[in-house]
Amino acid sequence: MTVCVESVAEVRAQAAEARRRGLRIGLVPTMGALHEGHASLIRAARAECGWVAVSIFVNPTQFGPGEDFARYPRPLEADAALCRREGIDLVFAPSAAEMYPAGFATAVRVAGLSEKMCGAFRPGHFDGVCTVVAKLFALVQPDAAYFGEKDAQQLAIVRRMAADLNLPVEVRGCPTVREPDGLAMSSRNAYLSPGERRQALALPAALAEARRAMETGERDAARLAALVRQRLAAAKGVELQYVAVVDPDTLEDLAIIGGQVLVALAARVGTTRLIDNVLLRRLPDPRANRTE
Ligand code: PAJ
Repeated sequence: MTVCVESVAEVRAQAAEARRRGLRIGLVPTMGALHEGHASLIRAARAECGWVAVSIFVNPTQFGPGEDFARYPRPLEADAALCRREGIDLVFAPSAAEMYPAGFATAVRVAGLSEKMCGAFRPGHFDGVCTVVAKLFALVQPDAAYFGEKDAQQLAIVRRMAADLNLPVEVRGCPTVREPDGLAMSSRNAYLSPGERRQALALPAALAEARRAMETGERDAARLAALVRQRLAAAKGVELQYVAVVDPDTLEDLAIIGGQVLVALAARVGTTRLIDNVLLRRLPDPRANRTE
């Protein structure tokens, strides 16, 4: 049975009861408007944990002035129904006042990683994310928490935060779920007009080109970034904010690609800001094993 609670006291009590029963506790933090991407995280948590909580909270502190906080979709009934279908034990959907009571004065900040890529375009965004995620970790005290690779920078930052603060939680990354035509699923896709929806396909197309270039031997990060930039410069209606070719854990810029590489980008399509990325691995050089 799925229990829906709004208060910090109730979520604590429910999680404590699950812990008392010796169950492995999983947490899936979300902002709601749940789609198949969220569902994949929920299923991963279900598979590994005996008790799973989903938080649904449109976190005001991670939205900048002029961003879409007010119009962010909040279909709470449909979200709760999805959680029930997926066999979630607890849905935690607090109010802003419950999470940030009067006098709230603390922020968690992961320096460096939070300031580049999306952080450069959304100052303070990742501080808001880290603060709310740290609070959710403290409330639920999960054994494992599930995050999407779709938000690769967020995943790297949350991992860094958990390690730095010695939080006893395993941070799990789950692969990006895409629409059949390749667009990464996002609650923000609902903002796109049909025309913009078609234009947005340039994002996964550009990343697919990066993948092909890697597969045919490209090792130079600058050339890989230039390829993505060129592809998106030619795309109608797409205004690129950045392309980053970085180490997926440290988010440090790479020059020559040795092992794993994250190619991440953000772009505006109309007024909607979209992000996407691919995680690539340098394939072994086929000539390396030749004996002749
Ligand atoms: P939200 O955008 O609702 O995403 C919740 C989780 O779902 C994140 O870990 C995100 O990476 C994952 N997700 C979203 N789209 C996905 C997709 N297409 N495939 C796989 N996973 C996907 O990210 C947030 O909320 C917030 O910043 C939050 C962590 C809840 C803090 O407020």
